[in-house]
Amino acid sequence: MQATLPDSLLSSLSKLVATQTGLHFPPERWGDLERGIAAAAPDFNFPDVESCAQWLLSAPLTRRMNEVLASHLSVGETYFFREKLGLKILEEQILLQLLQSRRQNERRLRIWSAGCSTGEEAYTIAILLDRLIPDLKEWNVTILATDFNPKFLRKAAQGVYGEWSFRDAPGWLREKYFMRKKDGRFEIHPRIRKMVTFSYLNFADDVYPSLTNNTSAMDIILCRNVLMYFTAQRAKQVAGNFYRALVDGGWLIVSPTEASNALFSPFAPVEFPGAVLYRKTADVRSQPLVVGYPVLPLFEAAEAAPPLPPVVPAEPAPAILPVLPNEATPAANLSAGQAGQAQARQADDRGMPSRMARNCANQGRLAEALEWCEQAIAADRLDPAHHYLLATILQEQGRHDTAIQSLMRALYLDPDFVLAHFALGNLHQSQGHYRQAQRHFENTLLLLRQHPPEETLPEADGLTAGRLAEIAVALLESLPQPAVAVA
Ligand SMILES: C[S@@+](CC[C@H](N)C(=O)[O-])C[C@H]1O[C@@H](n2cnc3c(N)ncnc32)[C@H](O)[C@@H]1O
Repeated sequence: MQATLPDSLLSSLSKLVATQTGLHFPPERWGDLERGIAAAAPDFNFPDVESCAQWLLSAPLTRRMNEVLASHLSVGETYFFREKLGLKILEEQILLQLLQSRRQNERRLRIWSAGCSTGEEAYTIAILLDRLIPDLKEWNVTILATDFNPKFLRKAAQGVYGEWSFRDAPGWLREKYFMRKKDGRFEIHPRIRKMVTFSYLNFADDVYPSLTNNTSAMDIILCRNVLMYFTAQRAKQVAGNFYRALVDGGWLIVSPTEASNALFSPFAPVEFPGAVLYRKTADVRSQPLVVGYPVLPLFEAAEAAPPLPPVVPAEPAPAILPVLPNEATPAANLSAGQAGQAQARQADDRGMPSRMARNCANQGRLAEALEWCEQAIAADRLDPAHHYLLATILQEQGRHDTAIQSLMRALYLDPDFVLAHFALGNLHQSQGHYRQAQRHFENTLLLLRQHPPEETLPEADGLTAGRLAEIAVALLESLPQPAVAVA
């Protein structure tokens, strides 16, 4: 679309949009900028694009307003099996090796489709795994898919698509994984739908990685066709967060047009024929590719898999602090200052098991995290925060029912524990129990009324009450209608 607004106005708007949303609109995209603002105008109660544009430049914009604006300015274009070369590398070079190394002990895999739009990318990954892992039921697979547009998320959770979403899909896809509906559209098989958890997250505003939104300890993050619309500064900040969200040796996959060693500088670029992927390198050794599962002919004319390229030499993994014996020195032998110090140390030590549990969980060392958390609970069974922490670890382990029990325990000890309600909402949503999810998100909002918006909530990694309320509203908006809920 050709822009019609004056250049001076568009230039000011593009600066405003860059600072408020992190989206980048150079002059060659001013037509898109104008079209997005025209689409946002009715949401802001303006009859035309120019009056809306003038208002945007003069009004103090709240975070929610920025989000509405950004959702109209961002592109939701997506389809099944998009960018097949990247998927082929993912399948043959990354997943096979990961599955092989994890098959012997902890059968778990965590993948994040970041900026998932209407869900085609996340379901593509679920389908790849379904074809690749014969004993899928024995595995704890997390596929998290996030976006900041509740309308996209709702459509994604419904899993119903028209022809256009299949424009570059392999021939077998619809027949094997979808059911044709009466209206001619295609509904994804419930088994695949249940493999993906859709959730709200804004890269610009939200805290991640965090146990509160299940964004820690990822093995693979796909963030394709998202960062190219961001300013360099915002994209770099997001890339830094992704780096921290990955386990050592984890992979970031962007689209070929987004590859940039400067932007993804904390990562080691790994070159494959026709694509560059980014790897978090610590304690990673180059391993020969071991094919443990049959490779199915997902892609016609598959070429022979190239050997794994060498990766950057290992860095030592961060050491785990040793457990210090928690014996109090007899107070009588201490001066007041020493006693004070000893008391402070003791109080500090009491917090250590839960800190260690968090550390381990953030790095995906879940068995250790669980042990630390059990120590914390044994030391103080009545602390609801310990039960909440246990629930986040159990959730990462895919033990949803026991996680729900732990959250109920936390709420029994503290009925106003807002984050426990929020976590219950997320867990029920991930299980397709949309009515229960709705009830817990509504409880979250009710409880948040007791907190000033700027208050930082306990156990929330810096999340404020105001932001949590916005997220809960967006999650409520993103829930599919009960009629389509997966029982
Ligand atoms: C072009 S789609 C990409 C979909 C998919 N990854 C793919 O490659 O097919 C970009 C998505 O990023 C989302 N997005 C843009 N800015 C975002 C932000 N700040 N936080 C979260 N999602 C964002 C948009 O809503 C949109 O759904």
